[in-house]
Amino acid sequence: MPDRYDLPAGFRWGAATAAYQIEGAVEEDGRGPSVWDTFTVRPGVIRDGHTGAVACDHYHRYPEDIALMKGLGLDGYRFSIAWPRVQPTGAGAVNPAGLAFYDRLVDALLEAGITPLPTLFHWDLPQALEDRGGWLDRDTAYRFAEYATVTADRLGDRVPTWITLNEPFVHTVFGYAMGIHAPGRTLMFEALPAAHHQLLAHGLAASLLHERGLEVMLSNNLTPVEPATPSPADATAAAAYDALHNRLFTDPVLLGRYPDLAALGVPDDIFGAVRPGDLDLIHSPGLDGLGLNYYNPTRIAAPTDPGLPFDLVDIPDVPHTAFGWPVVPDGLRRLLLGLRDTYGTALPPVTVTENGCSVDETTTPDQPRIDFLAAHLDALAQAVAEGIDVHGYYTWSLLDNFEWAEGYHQRFGLVHVDFATQKRNPRASYAWYRDLIAAHRSRCAK
Ligand code: BGC
Ligand code: BGC
Repeated sequence: MPDRYDLPAGFRWGAATAAYQIEGAVEEDGRGPSVWDTFTVRPGVIRDGHTGAVACDHYHRYPEDIALMKGLGLDGYRFSIAWPRVQPTGAGAVNPAGLAFYDRLVDALLEAGITPLPTLFHWDLPQALEDRGGWLDRDTAYRFAEYATVTADRLGDRVPTWITLNEPFVHTVFGYAMGIHAPGRTLMFEALPAAHHQLLAHGLAASLLHERGLEVMLSNNLTPVEPATPSPADATAAAAYDALHNRLFTDPVLLGRYPDLAALGVPDDIFGAVRPGDLDLIHSPGLDGLGLNYYNPTRIAAPTDPGLPFDLVDIPDVPHTAFGWPVVPDGLRRLLLGLRDTYGTALPPVTVTENGCSVDETTTPDQPRIDFLAAHLDALAQAVAEGIDVHGYYTWSLLDNFEWAEGYHQRFGLVHVDFATQKRNPRASYAWYRDLIAAHRSRCAK
């Protein structure tokens, strides 16, 4: 069986982070408030009332963090750009000090021999845009295209590939449908115009980035969906969930159409949000690479609660991470083969833009993280051996960071962060990943 050492020559090794989760410095150098600044101070929404106000203080400590990346031997670093640093109100005048931070970051990465892979939107919408409807407002897509353009015009001479959005599924469902994430709205299926407007934003930005000779990716959170039993009712529920979680955010981009949303009780035009020509705007720019964020499969049963067309059930008899997520490495291989079955030649090369796990160090050492990464990379190598074109792997995450609704409780880092002192301590998984990258490179050089 092929394993991680058999990944192809030229395979890109990376690590990923996101702005609000690591930067801190939320009021510095003219940054405007984002939906996460306003959401996290609402009582009771974040575990222990944590916020990203300081996070890993990466805004000031980025040179130290880049030294850690260099120590790993990374080819690439995926980070996100905070829109409210670049445009504090999400529109109009650019804040030079905000853009200058990313300019310094990009230069320092290149100096360290690491290719920057920025994501333009990892959930931190400028609050001023949220006040006008956020992603429920079509205009936000046009504002995003403008922000993407000014940012690419500043950094595009040194940054070849851009990710437009991170996980529009999670942002729509957690942020707009269920209210677990910012902006904390609880619209259930009526949140779906936010999905369409994010996809439109992607398409508009993708075409402007392409005009500038830049490559474009979209990072989707994808999950292999399995029915709980062979019953037709469970199969129907699983298909509905697959349409919502996977296909809704991928079919329009790769195929130029929405999946059948009838099973979700959603009208074809997504409550009037889809206008003539929109799907062409989303599809026709094309995608140079699909970013895949994989954490776990999802098991689905027929609904018990009539409000939803499916029930999410646990996958027993497998290990679970500290977050309670089932560990199923082969799900990554199955997911990749399933993408080929669904999209065929419309599937561009894939880059795993996130994969990792949180470990509770009060009860266990770092070994579960090493086991998790090793098994997922082996599964990835098996998918590659079965013919899937995978260009790289960015582990989540370089550093422990602000894990959204969980505050600082879930530790996903190769590097431990002591949030009281900001001291970074590389874990056993850091040394393991460094050694794997070196061994893979030397094997490819032979
Ligand atoms: C315009 C944008 C505007 C958007 C609002 C577009 O047709 O070009 O400037 O923000 O409509 O819906
Ligand atoms: C997100 C990250 C998050 C990670 C772990 C992904 O959904 O893109 O921001 O920290 O999963 O929950």
